[in-house]
Amino acid sequence: MISRRATEWTKVGFNHGAQNAYDPANNPNGIVSFANAENWLVNEDITDFINTHNHFDKLLFVYGEGFTGTRRLRSAMASHLNRHFKPVQDIDPEQITFGAGVTSLNEVCGLITCNPDSQESILLGRPVYGAFAFDLTMRTGVNLEYVDVGDTDQFSPDCVAGYEAGFEAAKARGVSIKALILCNPHNPLGQCYPRETLVELMHFCAAKGIHLISDEIYALSVYKRGDGPSEEFTSVLAIDPTGIINPSQVHVLYGMSKDFSGAGMRLGCLVSQNADFTKAARAICRFNSPSQLSMDLAAKLLKDQDYVARFLEKSQNLLSQARSLAEELLTEAGIQFHQKGNAGFFMWLDLAPYLPLKETNGDGWAAERLLSQQFSKAGVMMSAGEPYKAPSPGRFRFVFCIKEDAMREGVKRISQVLTKTS
Ligand SMILES: Cc1ncc(COP(=O)(O)O)c(C=O)c1O
Repeated sequence: MISRRATEWTKVGFNHGAQNAYDPANNPNGIVSFANAENWLVNEDITDFINTHNHFDKLLFVYGEGFTGTRRLRSAMASHLNRHFKPVQDIDPEQITFGAGVTSLNEVCGLITCNPDSQESILLGRPVYGAFAFDLTMRTGVNLEYVDVGDTDQFSPDCVAGYEAGFEAAKARGVSIKALILCNPHNPLGQCYPRETLVELMHFCAAKGIHLISDEIYALSVYKRGDGPSEEFTSVLAIDPTGIINPSQVHVLYGMSKDFSGAGMRLGCLVSQNADFTKAARAICRFNSPSQLSMDLAAKLLKDQDYVARFLEKSQNLLSQARSLAEELLTEAGIQFHQKGNAGFFMWLDLAPYLPLKETNGDGWAAERLLSQQFSKAGVMMSAGEPYKAPSPGRFRFVFCIKEDAMREGVKRISQVLTKTS
Protein backbone atom coordinates (compact mmCIF):
# COMPACT_ATOMS: atom_id res chain seq x y z
CA MET A 1 0.00 0.00 0.00
CA ILE A 2 1.74 3.10 -1.19
CA SER A 3 0.47 6.55 -2.11
CA ARG A 4 -0.69 7.50 -5.60
CA ARG A 5 2.39 9.60 -6.15
CA ALA A 6 4.65 6.78 -4.94
CA THR A 7 2.95 4.47 -7.42
CA GLU A 8 3.91 6.94 -10.16
CA TRP A 9 7.49 6.99 -8.87
CA THR A 10 7.74 3.20 -9.14
CA LYS A 11 7.64 3.69 -12.93
CA VAL A 12 10.76 5.86 -12.95
CA GLY A 13 13.95 3.83 -13.15
CA PHE A 14 17.37 5.32 -12.51
CA ASN A 15 20.79 3.67 -12.33
CA HIS A 16 21.10 1.64 -9.21
CA GLY A 17 24.03 -0.65 -8.62
CA ALA A 18 26.57 -2.34 -10.85
CA GLN A 19 27.10 -0.97 -14.34
CA ASN A 20 29.07 -3.62 -16.28
CA ALA A 21 31.12 -0.98 -18.08
CA TYR A 22 33.17 -1.90 -21.14
CA ASP A 23 36.90 -2.19 -20.65
CA PRO A 24 39.00 -3.41 -23.57
CA ALA A 25 41.28 -5.54 -21.36
CA ASN A 26 39.15 -6.56 -18.39
CA ASN A 27 35.57 -6.50 -19.67
CA PRO A 28 35.48 -6.51 -23.48
CA ASN A 29 31.83 -7.62 -23.50
CA GLY A 30 30.76 -4.87 -21.13
CA ILE A 31 28.45 -2.02 -22.10
CA VAL A 32 29.71 1.06 -23.90
CA SER A 33 27.65 3.94 -22.63
CA PHE A 34 27.21 7.13 -24.62
CA ALA A 35 24.29 7.90 -22.34
CA ASN A 36 25.57 9.60 -19.21
CA ALA A 37 26.85 13.14 -19.59
CA GLU A 38 30.13 12.46 -17.82
CA ASN A 39 33.53 13.75 -18.87
CA TRP A 40 35.84 10.75 -18.72
CA LEU A 41 38.65 12.65 -20.44
CA VAL A 42 39.71 14.44 -17.25
CA ASN A 43 38.38 11.98 -14.71
CA GLU A 44 41.85 10.88 -13.68
CA ASP A 45 43.06 14.46 -13.26
CA ILE A 46 40.30 15.33 -10.86
CA THR A 47 40.75 12.06 -9.00
CA ASP A 48 44.46 12.84 -8.54
CA PHE A 49 43.67 16.32 -7.23
CA ILE A 50 41.14 14.96 -4.76
CA ASN A 51 43.45 12.17 -3.60
CA THR A 52 46.15 14.68 -2.74
CA HIS A 53 43.78 17.04 -0.91
CA ASN A 54 41.67 14.72 1.20
CA HIS A 55 42.95 15.76 4.61
CA PHE A 56 39.85 16.42 6.65
CA ASP A 57 39.42 18.48 9.77
CA LYS A 58 37.39 16.98 12.62
CA LEU A 59 34.84 19.80 12.26
CA LEU A 60 33.78 18.30 8.95
CA PHE A 61 32.30 15.29 10.71
CA VAL A 62 29.62 17.28 12.50
CA TYR A 63 26.81 19.45 11.13
CA GLY A 64 29.23 22.34 11.14
CA GLU A 65 28.11 25.48 9.39
CA GLY A 66 24.94 23.83 8.23
CA PHE A 67 23.42 22.48 5.09
CA THR A 68 23.64 24.91 2.21
CA GLY A 69 27.26 25.82 1.63
CA THR A 70 30.12 26.66 3.94
CA ARG A 71 31.44 30.23 3.85
CA ARG A 72 34.76 28.92 2.46
CA LEU A 73 33.02 27.14 -0.37
CA ARG A 74 30.64 30.00 -1.15
CA SER A 75 33.47 32.50 -1.32
CA ALA A 76 35.63 30.15 -3.42
CA MET A 77 32.69 29.63 -5.80
CA ALA A 78 31.98 33.38 -5.93
CA SER A 79 35.62 34.09 -6.92
CA HIS A 80 35.51 31.28 -9.48
CA LEU A 81 32.33 32.61 -11.06
CA ASN A 82 33.54 36.20 -10.96
CA ARG A 83 36.62 35.13 -12.86
CA HIS A 84 35.02 32.85 -15.45
CA PHE A 85 31.41 34.09 -15.89
CA LYS A 86 32.39 37.78 -15.95
CA PRO A 87 29.22 38.98 -14.20
CA VAL A 88 28.35 42.67 -14.58
CA GLN A 89 28.44 42.94 -10.82
CA ASP A 90 30.67 40.78 -8.67
CA ILE A 91 28.76 37.85 -7.19
CA ASP A 92 28.62 38.00 -3.42
CA PRO A 93 29.04 34.67 -1.55
CA GLU A 94 25.73 35.49 0.17
CA GLN A 95 23.97 35.16 -3.19
CA ILE A 96 25.09 31.54 -3.44
CA THR A 97 23.24 28.53 -2.03
CA PHE A 98 24.53 24.99 -2.34
CA GLY A 99 22.55 21.80 -2.67
CA ALA A 100 23.36 18.19 -3.50
CA GLY A 101 23.65 18.72 -7.25
CA VAL A 102 21.96 20.93 -9.82
CA THR A 103 19.29 18.24 -10.12
CA SER A 104 18.07 19.11 -6.66
CA LEU A 105 18.35 22.85 -7.32
CA ASN A 106 16.24 22.57 -10.44
CA GLU A 107 13.60 20.98 -8.28
CA VAL A 108 14.05 23.77 -5.75
CA CYS A 109 13.42 26.33 -8.51
CA GLY A 110 10.22 24.48 -9.43
CA LEU A 111 9.12 24.52 -5.81
CA ILE A 112 9.87 28.19 -5.37
CA THR A 113 8.36 29.56 -8.58
CA CYS A 114 5.09 27.59 -8.81
CA ASN A 115 2.30 26.67 -6.47
CA PRO A 116 1.54 22.95 -6.57
CA ASP A 117 -1.36 21.52 -8.56
CA SER A 118 -2.67 24.94 -9.46
CA GLN A 119 -2.28 25.34 -13.21
CA GLU A 120 1.08 27.03 -12.72
CA SER A 121 3.80 26.01 -15.07
CA ILE A 122 7.34 26.44 -16.35
CA LEU A 123 8.23 27.16 -19.98
CA LEU A 124 10.96 25.23 -21.79
CA GLY A 125 12.05 25.17 -25.43
CA ARG A 126 12.45 21.78 -27.04
CA PRO A 127 14.43 19.61 -27.49
CA VAL A 128 15.75 19.98 -23.98
CA TYR A 129 17.60 18.06 -21.24
CA GLY A 130 15.35 15.06 -20.60
CA ALA A 131 15.71 14.92 -16.83
CA PHE A 132 13.99 18.31 -16.44
CA ALA A 133 10.78 16.35 -16.97
CA PHE A 134 11.49 14.48 -13.71
CA ASP A 135 13.50 16.99 -11.74
CA LEU A 136 11.03 19.83 -12.08
CA THR A 137 7.86 17.81 -11.64
CA MET A 138 8.19 14.60 -9.62
CA ARG A 139 7.79 16.08 -6.15
CA THR A 140 6.68 19.59 -7.00
CA GLY A 141 3.20 19.21 -8.51
CA VAL A 142 4.39 21.55 -11.27
CA ASN A 143 3.57 21.09 -14.98
CA LEU A 144 5.87 21.91 -17.83
CA GLU A 145 5.01 23.71 -21.05
CA TYR A 146 7.26 22.71 -23.92
CA VAL A 147 7.53 25.16 -26.73
CA ASP A 148 8.55 24.52 -30.32
CA VAL A 149 11.38 26.84 -31.10
CA GLY A 150 12.74 24.85 -34.02
CA ASP A 151 14.44 21.49 -33.88
CA THR A 152 17.98 22.64 -34.07
CA ASP A 153 18.04 26.38 -33.78
CA GLN A 154 16.71 27.62 -30.52
CA PHE A 155 19.45 30.17 -30.48
CA SER A 156 18.45 33.08 -32.67
CA PRO A 157 16.55 35.99 -31.11
CA ASP A 158 13.59 34.79 -33.23
CA CYS A 159 13.07 32.00 -30.68
CA VAL A 160 11.26 34.57 -28.53
CA ALA A 161 8.27 34.38 -30.88
CA GLY A 162 8.04 30.65 -30.05
CA TYR A 163 8.11 31.35 -26.32
CA GLU A 164 5.56 34.13 -26.75
CA ALA A 165 3.24 31.73 -28.61
CA GLY A 166 3.77 29.06 -25.94
CA PHE A 167 3.04 31.53 -23.17
CA GLU A 168 -0.20 32.70 -24.82
CA ALA A 169 -1.32 29.15 -25.68
CA ALA A 170 -0.84 28.14 -22.04
CA LYS A 171 -2.72 31.22 -20.87
CA ALA A 172 -5.64 30.39 -23.17
CA ARG A 173 -5.85 27.01 -21.38
CA GLY A 174 -5.87 28.74 -18.00
CA VAL A 175 -2.22 27.90 -17.28
CA SER A 176 -0.13 30.60 -15.70
CA ILE A 177 3.58 30.52 -16.62
CA LYS A 178 5.86 31.41 -13.73
CA ALA A 179 9.32 30.83 -15.12
CA LEU A 180 11.37 30.14 -18.23
CA ILE A 181 14.20 27.65 -17.85
CA LEU A 182 17.12 27.79 -20.24
CA CYS A 183 19.98 25.41 -20.51
CA ASN A 184 23.05 27.39 -21.61
CA PRO A 185 25.24 25.83 -23.01
CA HIS A 186 22.43 23.72 -24.34
CA ASN A 187 21.87 20.07 -23.56
CA PRO A 188 21.43 18.20 -25.97
CA LEU A 189 22.38 20.55 -28.84
CA GLY A 190 25.77 21.60 -27.44
CA GLN A 191 25.35 25.25 -28.41
CA CYS A 192 25.78 28.46 -26.45
CA TYR A 193 23.13 31.16 -26.57
CA PRO A 194 24.40 34.34 -28.23
CA ARG A 195 24.25 37.47 -26.10
CA GLU A 196 21.56 39.09 -28.28
CA THR A 197 19.24 36.10 -27.82
CA LEU A 198 19.72 36.18 -24.05
CA VAL A 199 18.90 39.89 -24.03
CA GLU A 200 15.66 39.24 -25.94
CA LEU A 201 14.75 36.41 -23.58
CA MET A 202 15.40 38.68 -20.61
CA HIS A 203 13.07 41.29 -22.16
CA PHE A 204 10.48 38.54 -22.66
CA CYS A 205 10.65 37.39 -19.02
CA ALA A 206 10.45 40.99 -17.82
CA ALA A 207 7.40 41.70 -19.98
CA LYS A 208 5.65 38.58 -18.70
CA GLY A 209 6.73 39.10 -15.09
CA ILE A 210 8.29 35.63 -14.84
CA HIS A 211 11.57 34.25 -13.55
CA LEU A 212 14.46 33.43 -15.88
CA ILE A 213 16.36 30.41 -14.61
CA SER A 214 19.53 29.63 -16.51
CA ASP A 215 21.11 26.22 -15.97
CA GLU A 216 24.74 26.96 -16.84
CA ILE A 217 26.23 23.69 -15.66
CA TYR A 218 28.33 23.27 -18.89
CA ALA A 219 29.57 26.89 -18.87
CA LEU A 220 33.28 26.10 -18.99
CA SER A 221 33.08 22.99 -21.13
CA VAL A 222 33.26 25.08 -24.30
CA TYR A 223 35.79 24.03 -26.91
CA LYS A 224 37.26 25.00 -30.29
CA ARG A 225 35.97 23.44 -33.51
CA GLY A 226 38.92 24.10 -35.83
CA ASP A 227 37.54 26.57 -38.33
CA GLY A 228 33.99 25.31 -37.68
CA PRO A 229 31.20 27.39 -36.15
CA SER A 230 31.58 28.30 -32.52
CA GLU A 231 29.96 30.63 -30.04
CA GLU A 232 31.46 31.82 -26.78
CA PHE A 233 29.59 31.14 -23.57
CA THR A 234 27.77 34.19 -22.17
CA SER A 235 26.22 33.91 -18.74
CA VAL A 236 22.96 35.77 -18.14
CA LEU A 237 24.87 37.31 -15.23
CA ALA A 238 27.24 38.92 -17.73
CA ILE A 239 24.43 40.99 -19.23
CA ASP A 240 23.64 44.32 -17.62
CA PRO A 241 19.97 44.01 -16.63
CA THR A 242 19.48 47.78 -16.39
CA GLY A 243 16.48 48.73 -18.50
CA ILE A 244 15.84 45.06 -19.35
CA ILE A 245 14.77 43.07 -16.30
CA ASN A 246 14.73 43.31 -12.55
CA PRO A 247 17.81 41.29 -11.47
CA SER A 248 15.71 39.63 -8.76
CA GLN A 249 13.98 37.67 -11.57
CA VAL A 250 17.22 36.14 -12.90
CA HIS A 251 18.77 33.03 -11.34
CA VAL A 252 21.70 30.85 -12.38
CA LEU A 253 22.49 27.23 -11.62
CA TYR A 254 26.01 25.86 -11.70
CA GLY A 255 27.84 22.90 -10.21
CA MET A 256 30.82 20.58 -10.05
CA SER A 257 29.37 17.68 -12.07
CA LYS A 258 30.32 18.72 -15.58
CA ASP A 259 33.13 21.27 -15.84
CA PHE A 260 35.02 19.45 -13.07
CA SER A 261 34.04 15.91 -14.01
CA GLY A 262 32.83 15.69 -10.42
CA ALA A 263 29.26 14.36 -10.59
CA GLY A 264 30.03 12.05 -7.68
CA MET A 265 30.70 15.06 -5.47
CA ARG A 266 26.96 15.91 -5.70
CA LEU A 267 27.46 19.65 -5.53
CA GLY A 268 25.43 22.31 -7.25
CA CYS A 269 24.66 25.91 -6.50
CA LEU A 270 22.02 28.54 -7.10
CA VAL A 271 23.13 32.11 -7.68
CA SER A 272 20.36 34.60 -7.05
CA GLN A 273 20.12 38.26 -6.13
CA ASN A 274 16.60 37.69 -4.85
CA ALA A 275 16.74 37.52 -1.05
CA ASP A 276 13.39 35.72 -0.68
CA PHE A 277 14.25 33.21 -3.42
CA THR A 278 17.54 32.52 -1.63
CA LYS A 279 15.92 32.23 1.81
CA ALA A 280 13.32 29.79 0.51
CA ALA A 281 15.99 27.77 -1.32
CA ARG A 282 18.07 27.51 1.86
CA ALA A 283 15.07 26.28 3.81
CA ILE A 284 14.37 23.41 1.43
CA CYS A 285 17.97 22.61 0.56
CA ARG A 286 18.18 21.21 4.05
CA PHE A 287 16.65 18.13 2.46
CA ASN A 288 19.24 18.09 -0.33
CA SER A 289 22.27 18.93 1.69
CA PRO A 290 25.72 18.17 0.28
CA SER A 291 28.30 16.41 2.41
CA GLN A 292 30.76 18.53 4.38
CA LEU A 293 33.53 16.38 2.88
CA SER A 294 32.48 17.23 -0.66
CA MET A 295 32.17 20.89 0.21
CA ASP A 296 35.66 20.88 1.71
CA LEU A 297 37.19 19.28 -1.39
CA ALA A 298 35.36 21.61 -3.76
CA ALA A 299 36.49 24.65 -1.77
CA LYS A 300 40.12 23.45 -2.00
CA LEU A 301 39.74 22.90 -5.73
CA LEU A 302 38.06 26.23 -6.51
CA LYS A 303 40.49 28.17 -4.36
CA ASP A 304 43.38 26.83 -6.41
CA GLN A 305 42.59 28.85 -9.52
CA ASP A 306 46.01 28.16 -11.07
CA TYR A 307 45.15 24.48 -11.03
CA VAL A 308 41.61 25.22 -12.27
CA ALA A 309 43.00 27.22 -15.22
CA ARG A 310 45.32 24.36 -16.24
CA PHE A 311 42.59 21.78 -15.70
CA LEU A 312 40.02 23.67 -17.79
CA GLU A 313 42.48 24.28 -20.59
CA LYS A 314 43.30 20.59 -20.72
CA SER A 315 39.63 19.63 -20.52
CA GLN A 316 38.65 21.99 -23.35
CA ASN A 317 41.48 20.71 -25.59
CA LEU A 318 40.50 17.11 -24.94
CA LEU A 319 36.82 17.87 -25.61
CA SER A 320 37.80 19.42 -28.93
CA GLN A 321 39.87 16.36 -29.88
CA ALA A 322 37.19 13.90 -28.76
CA ARG A 323 34.53 15.77 -30.75
CA SER A 324 36.74 15.58 -33.87
CA LEU A 325 37.24 11.86 -33.39
CA ALA A 326 33.51 11.33 -32.84
CA GLU A 327 32.71 13.28 -36.01
CA GLU A 328 35.20 11.19 -37.96
CA LEU A 329 33.87 7.84 -36.69
CA LEU A 330 30.20 8.80 -37.08
CA THR A 331 30.80 10.12 -40.59
CA GLU A 332 32.60 6.90 -41.56
CA ALA A 333 29.57 5.01 -40.23
CA GLY A 334 27.28 7.15 -42.42
CA ILE A 335 25.56 8.77 -39.43
CA GLN A 336 24.22 12.31 -39.70
CA PHE A 337 24.45 14.70 -36.76
CA HIS A 338 23.67 18.28 -35.80
CA GLN A 339 26.71 20.14 -37.13
CA LYS A 340 26.65 23.14 -34.84
CA GLY A 341 27.78 23.07 -31.25
CA ASN A 342 31.01 23.70 -29.39
CA ALA A 343 30.02 23.06 -25.80
CA GLY A 344 28.94 20.29 -23.50
CA PHE A 345 29.68 16.63 -23.93
CA PHE A 346 27.26 15.53 -26.64
CA MET A 347 26.21 15.46 -30.24
CA TRP A 348 22.64 15.18 -31.48
CA LEU A 349 22.43 12.32 -33.97
CA ASP A 350 19.79 11.90 -36.63
CA LEU A 351 19.05 8.19 -36.95
CA ALA A 352 15.62 8.73 -38.52
CA PRO A 353 16.70 6.94 -41.73
CA TYR A 354 17.42 3.81 -39.68
CA LEU A 355 14.18 3.58 -37.67
CA PRO A 356 12.70 0.07 -37.93
CA LEU A 357 9.33 1.49 -39.01
CA LYS A 358 8.13 -1.72 -40.66
CA GLU A 359 8.30 -3.51 -37.34
CA THR A 360 6.20 -0.86 -35.61
CA ASN A 361 3.57 -0.33 -38.32
CA GLY A 362 4.99 3.07 -39.11
CA ASP A 363 4.88 4.35 -35.52
CA GLY A 364 8.03 6.49 -35.35
CA TRP A 365 8.27 6.83 -31.56
CA ALA A 366 7.75 3.08 -31.11
CA ALA A 367 10.46 2.53 -33.73
CA GLU A 368 12.80 4.84 -31.82
CA ARG A 369 12.16 2.85 -28.62
CA LEU A 370 12.78 -0.40 -30.50
CA LEU A 371 16.04 0.91 -31.95
CA SER A 372 17.06 1.91 -28.45
CA GLN A 373 16.41 -1.65 -27.25
CA GLN A 374 18.43 -3.01 -30.16
CA PHE A 375 21.34 -0.80 -29.12
CA SER A 376 21.08 -2.07 -25.54
CA LYS A 377 21.08 -5.67 -26.74
CA ALA A 378 24.20 -4.91 -28.76
CA GLY A 379 25.90 -3.58 -25.61
CA VAL A 380 25.77 0.13 -26.43
CA MET A 381 23.64 2.83 -24.83
CA MET A 382 22.51 6.28 -25.91
CA SER A 383 19.69 8.53 -24.77
CA ALA A 384 16.85 8.55 -27.27
CA GLY A 385 15.22 11.81 -28.40
CA GLU A 386 11.73 11.16 -27.04
CA PRO A 387 12.51 12.00 -23.41
CA TYR A 388 14.35 15.08 -24.70
CA LYS A 389 11.10 16.18 -26.37
CA ALA A 390 12.64 15.94 -29.81
CA PRO A 391 10.12 17.23 -32.32
CA SER A 392 10.37 14.08 -34.48
CA PRO A 393 11.51 10.48 -33.88
CA GLY A 394 15.01 9.22 -34.56
CA ARG A 395 17.21 11.64 -32.64
CA PHE A 396 19.76 10.22 -30.19
CA ARG A 397 22.15 12.02 -27.87
CA PHE A 398 25.71 10.76 -28.23
CA VAL A 399 28.13 11.62 -25.41
CA PHE A 400 31.58 11.81 -26.98
CA CYS A 401 33.88 12.40 -24.02
CA ILE A 402 34.65 8.81 -23.28
CA LYS A 403 37.96 7.03 -23.79
CA GLU A 404 38.99 6.49 -27.41
CA ASP A 405 38.94 2.68 -27.33
CA ALA A 406 35.43 2.68 -25.85
CA MET A 407 34.25 5.23 -28.42
CA ARG A 408 35.61 3.16 -31.32
CA GLU A 409 34.02 -0.02 -29.95
CA GLY A 410 30.71 1.76 -29.27
CA VAL A 411 30.44 3.29 -32.74
CA LYS A 412 31.25 -0.14 -34.22
CA ARG A 413 28.35 -1.64 -32.25
CA ILE A 414 25.98 1.19 -33.27
CA SER A 415 26.99 0.71 -36.87
CA GLN A 416 26.35 -3.04 -36.72
CA VAL A 417 22.83 -2.44 -35.37
CA LEU A 418 22.12 0.15 -38.08
CA THR A 419 23.39 -2.16 -40.82
CA LYS A 420 20.89 -4.80 -39.65
CA THR A 421 17.93 -2.36 -39.56
CA SER A 422 18.56 -0.82 -42.98
C1 LIG B 1 21.51 20.63 -17.98
C2 LIG B 1 21.79 19.76 -16.80
N1 LIG B 1 21.44 20.20 -15.58
C3 LIG B 1 21.67 19.45 -14.48
C4 LIG B 1 22.27 18.21 -14.59
C5 LIG B 1 22.51 17.39 -13.35
O1 LIG B 1 23.49 17.99 -12.56
P1 LIG B 1 23.94 17.42 -11.15
O2 LIG B 1 24.85 16.26 -11.39
O3 LIG B 1 24.65 18.57 -10.53
O4 LIG B 1 22.74 17.03 -10.41
C6 LIG B 1 22.67 17.73 -15.84
C7 LIG B 1 23.28 16.39 -15.97
O5 LIG B 1 23.31 15.78 -17.00
C8 LIG B 1 22.42 18.53 -16.97
O6 LIG B 1 22.76 18.12 -18.18
